[in-house]
Amino acid sequence: MRNRLVLGNWKLNGGLTQNSVLLAQLASKIIFNQGRKEQACGVCVPYAYLSQVQTLLTNTSIHWGSQDVSRFESGAYSGEVSASMVAEFGSRFALVGHSERRAIFGDTDEFVAQKFGAAQRAGLMPVLCVGETLEERAASKTGEVVVRQLNAVIAAYGVAALQGAVLAYEPVWAIGTGKTATPAEAESVHQYLRRYVANAESAGSVKVADTLPILYGGSVKKSNAAELFAMPNIDGGLIGGASLVADEFLGIWASL
Ligand code: PGA
Repeated sequence: MRNRLVLGNWKLNGGLTQNSVLLAQLASKIIFNQGRKEQACGVCVPYAYLSQVQTLLTNTSIHWGSQDVSRFESGAYSGEVSASMVAEFGSRFALVGHSERRAIFGDTDEFVAQKFGAAQRAGLMPVLCVGETLEERAASKTGEVVVRQLNAVIAAYGVAALQGAVLAYEPVWAIGTGKTATPAEAESVHQYLRRYVANAESAGSVKVADTLPILYGGSVKKSNAAELFAMPNIDGGLIGGASLVADEFLGIWASL
């Protein structure tokens, strides 16, 4: 049985008052019961709010984490926040390789792999984001791109490092655009990624392909979440815009 997750990615949004209103609404409704043991919910917030989120979500059913971590552990790197600092606030997750980090802030595959390793060493669960642009999809390069992004981590740490990690397929053309991949389009990439992991590990003794949660992200809303989550290789969602609206996020969670 694979874990199923719904993760919010607040991006560069929030404010102390706004956060506490949203989190109170979520925490009052997202309560795990025995039937949902293998499911988890979390919010990935700006670093500045980790302390607030820790205070408000401790003893609730919602986990939290960051949207990035530094690839460095400490030293003269002004403006950076290390994975161990994120972990000190009780965080469970850290996104690495979000397409906005790759496209706007210059995160290369190699940097993303280093961030993945830094998160894992700090005890965080890395959520490795992969996805192709519209041009890459039009050139039939989707598989090649997502595998190249995934492979940077496998090359650095081995396929066993995916144990205890999460993969998120987020087609760049679907992020914040209102254009969602169809369930069939998303499923075919998820299946491709899972098969790739299975083949990569076939030589070794670890078996992570069956248990690796692969989330879909890109314009997931409460109105389309159920059909996406019904696909056999889609194990939940990474939610941007809709994670800022309680009714939307709760509707997505209910679809898991
Ligand atoms: P979106 O963002 O749901 O607003 O498309 C998803 C993401 O960037 O993680």
